Amino acid sequence: MNTPQEAAWRGEFGDRYTDRNMGKVPANRAFFRKALTSCRWFRMDEQHSILELGCGAGENLQALRQLYPAHHLEGVEINPKAVAIARGWGNAMIHEGSVLDFQPTRKYDLVLSKGFCIHIPPTELARAYDVLVRSSKRWVLVAEYYSPRPVEIPYRNAQISDGMLWKRDFAGDLLNAYQELRLVDYGFVYHRDPYPQDDLTWFLMEKTQ
Ligand SMILES: C[S@@+](CC[C@H](N)C(=O)[O-])C[C@H]1O[C@@H](n2cnc3c(N)ncnc32)[C@H](O)[C@@H]1O
Repeated sequence: MNTPQEAAWRGEFGDRYTDRNMGKVPANRAFFRKALTSCRWFRMDEQHSILELGCGAGENLQALRQLYPAHHLEGVEINPKAVAIARGWGNAMIHEGSVLDFQPTRKYDLVLSKGFCIHIPPTELARAYDVLVRSSKRWVLVAEYYSPRPVEIPYRNAQISDGMLWKRDFAGDLLNAYQELRLVDYGFVYHRDPYPQDDLTWFLMEKTQ
């Protein structure tokens, strides 16, 4: 059964988000250059695979393509309008549907969530974490809003403002739940940076078994 959040992202709420959040590829490129510095083996000329959960219109995947021309890129996205834009770009395989139902048929060198886990209701988070970790061969990157204690925050610019956005220690949850993960690097990108993100805190983890 679908959660109210999945219904909202699939519908008009998700369409409106897609319309007002384009044009971030240069900032995303700067973000990944920084956040993936520790993946030293992630060389441009080798072919590795990357999966993004909640990839939106594909602006992270576009940035990753510019940094890593040979890599195999995939995304999972629930909003049909965003899926059409990401597919229209033509450089990544996009799975349309909910991450909470996604059954990966392979593993990826890197699996990432950027601004996705913050929109998953706490009761469903374990399912999203499971996809994130289970489908990764080696690296897991989460870039979300951090809070040491889980808190819900009202979602701005939306008719639906409750039950759509949470911040918490996503990486801490993952490190507690999955003993095979180790923290490799972390950082923060300020909204006043020349290549801004929305005050995102990111954590790069590696599977050790
Ligand atoms: C805040 S946007 C972030 C988009 C992209 N990751 C970025 O950094 O620009 C959240 C995205 O997650 C998608 N999403 C939310 N819940 C989802 C779910 N259960 N399964 C798949 N996608 C979902 C939304 O449709 C939206 O495109």
